[in-house]
Amino acid sequence: MADIKIFVGSVFGNASEVADLVTDALIADGHSAEQYSSPGVAQLQQASAILVITSTTGQGDIPLNLEDFYLQLHRQLPLITNTPFAVIALGDSGYGDTFCGGGRQMQQILLKLQGRETKEMLSIDSCETLEPELEAVPWAQSWAREL
Ligand SMILES: Cc1cc2nc3c(=O)[nH]c(=O)nc-3n(C[C@H](O)[C@H](O)[C@H](O)COP(=O)(O)O)c2cc1C
Repeated sequence: MADIKIFVGSVFGNASEVADLVTDALIADGHSAEQYSSPGVAQLQQASAILVITSTTGQGDIPLNLEDFYLQLHRQLPLITNTPFAVIALGDSGYGDTFCGGGRQMQQILLKLQGRETKEMLSIDSCETLEPELEAVPWAQSWAREL
């Protein structure tokens, strides 16, 4: 069973709610899972498996609660070589090119830090679903099973 650290970025609470349900489901499956909404570099470096669940704000931007973390990762470049990670991005396709930009930025920095993306990013479009957890929970469970 995996030990998963979940990094959550949310403005109005949608991604946080999804993260809560994903955390509960992973724990019910026998994994250990812990959430961070104001994370630091150390938490990323200590992780043996990383799940990012984040919405997008502004124009393709990362939610404020993950902004410092994101900037620290860019400044310090703490390598997480070969650590498995995955990203669940919540967004709204009505925003066009910036759809799920927050998730994509997190994906890019984790790749730059040499993390290993073990499942293709899940992008959830609020234009298409009012219940993002119905996509996110089974997706995260199947990702975790393969760790
Ligand atoms: C001010 C504002 C800006 C947004 N900008 C984007 C964007 O650039 N791209 C995108 O895909 N979604 C964008 N969204 C949509 C949110 O990411 C989406 O509604 C998400 O479900 C919000 O989750 P949260 O409550 O966890 O922040 C924006 C929403 C708001 C209110």
